[in-house]
Parts: sequence; C-alpha cells; structure tokens
Amino acid sequence: MKIRKAVIPVAGLGTRFLPATKTVPKELLPIVDIPSIQYVVQEAVEAGIQEIIFVTGRGKDAIEDHFDEAPELEQILADRGHKEMVAMLRRIAEMTEVVSVRQKKPLGLGHAVLCARDLVGDEPFAVMLADDLIDAETPCIRQLVDIFTETQESVIALLEVPLEEVNQYGVIKGKELKSGLYQIEATVEKPAAKDAPSRMAIIGRYVLRPEIFAILQNLPAGRGGEIQLTDGLSRLVQERKIFGCEFLGDRYDIGDKFGFVRATVAYALKRPDLKDKVAEYLKILNR
Ligand code: G1P
Repeated sequence: MKIRKAVIPVAGLGTRFLPATKTVPKELLPIVDIPSIQYVVQEAVEAGIQEIIFVTGRGKDAIEDHFDEAPELEQILADRGHKEMVAMLRRIAEMTEVVSVRQKKPLGLGHAVLCARDLVGDEPFAVMLADDLIDAETPCIRQLVDIFTETQESVIALLEVPLEEVNQYGVIKGKELKSGLYQIEATVEKPAAKDAPSRMAIIGRYVLRPEIFAILQNLPAGRGGEIQLTDGLSRLVQERKIFGCEFLGDRYDIGDKFGFVRATVAYALKRPDLKDKVAEYLKILNR
C-alpha cells in the first residue's frame, strides 16, 4: 500500500520560544523567511504524500491559513505587479490538501497521533514532528517510505547521538541488518544514559501501520504522565516487524534555541541570495 497521508502534530504550546510564541505558533517561526512547518510539509509532498493532517490546538489556526489561498493579498500584490510573489503564494496554497483535528488536551505524542485515527483510516501513514528539520538530498520521509514500500512494515528514523543526550530521545534496542537498516526489538522513551539500550535515537519521522491506533487507544500514560508514541512502538514490535532507518541528511532540533540558530545559519548558507553575505559575515565574526 502507498503512503498517502502524513500526520503532523502541532498542538504544542512552544513555551521554550516565549515570548515569540505568545501569539505566533512556533511552527510558523521562520528559518529566514520560510516558516519552518513549510519545510516539513514540502518534505512530505516530495515523498508523494497527498494529504497533511495537522493535529492542532487553540491558537494554531494560522498554520492552516498558511497553506490556504489568500485572494486579497494576491490581488494587492498583482495590482502592484509582483507576479513572482503571487506565484510563490499560489504554489504554497496548491502544495497539498490540508485537514486538521484538534487535540483538546496535551496528553502526549501518542495521544496526538491517536487523535488523527478517523482521518487516517485503516491505512499506513507517516508521522512527522515539526521540531525536527531535516535537510537531505532524498527527503528523510521518502527514505522511510522506500523501506515501507519494500517491506510493508513500519519504519522509524534513527540517528546515533552522544550518550549524554540519549535522555532526550526515544531510544531503540535492535540489530543492524545491513548498513543503516535496523530491525527494532524494543524502544524506550528518554532513558537515563545508564539504562539506554543503545545510542540510536528515534528522530521525528515515522511510517506506521494502522495497527498502532488500537495499541495507542489502550496505552497507559508513560514518561512524564503522557501517552508516548515510543511506548506504542514497543508494543507494536511484539505484533509486527518495525525497521529503523539511519537516514542520510542533516537534522536540526529547532525545538531548541541553539538548534534553531544552527538551522537558520545552515539554511541561509544554502541560499543563493544570501550565502556569500552570510559566509563573509561569519568570517568577520570569527576574527
Ligand atoms: C519526541 C519523541 C521522542 C523522539 C523525539 C524526536 O520527543 O517522544 O521519542 O526521540 O520526539 O525529536 P520530544 O522531543 O517531543 O520530547
């Protein structure tokens, strides 16, 4: 079966980025001039995904508006002769189908995914976390979709992290089948370094079989009193295989302030209109 839908949880309050996020959803904070969520949606589109399901919360309507038509704005820009800007806005509005569902209470990532159950239906789907920005030649979610296409089993993105950082991630126990491809045996959410089964961390890209929903439905609260997707995976792996993909690409944790700055600099250095100026400025700062 094909992966047609991606669930993107965006209900989080973004408290780490207050006061910016007092009125602006953190997913719309721009990496230079492009809201970070647009990169994530673009990644899904490039993997052939046709429908984005946002799991939203109060005050997050502007995210959907970003992917909607903006006729008044387009008209004003057209009157002023800004054809390219109009075309750019049209591309964003036509990029993909967007639907949304509310997560009324902050009960965790597993619960957020469960909220999308009716919209996903009985088919495999992607989950993409907007705090993980991944710059890759082959979009990260496409790398996972390719493994799913071959195996028809769930696939999660993996990254080796330093031991002192394992407590910030879901961590796997598994065996490497071939370079970069793992078979998952268990997953544990944010273990202490001494308890971590490995240094292979789960990054926010998943392709999941629909069996995960029944598991999440009956899952007790885990770490932090929240329903954890990682705990759901640990149960799913007892029913069906899950593969881990050590993806190729650079990942930025933009839920973290320094990660956000790193992403901003790295993305600016890739832009033809900015790279020379930014590179020159970094040199001056270094002197
Ligand atoms: C979530 C997941 C965690 C995963 C991480 C990836 O944690 O619960 O398993 O490793 O995303 O970014 P969060 O960063 O939302 O606390």
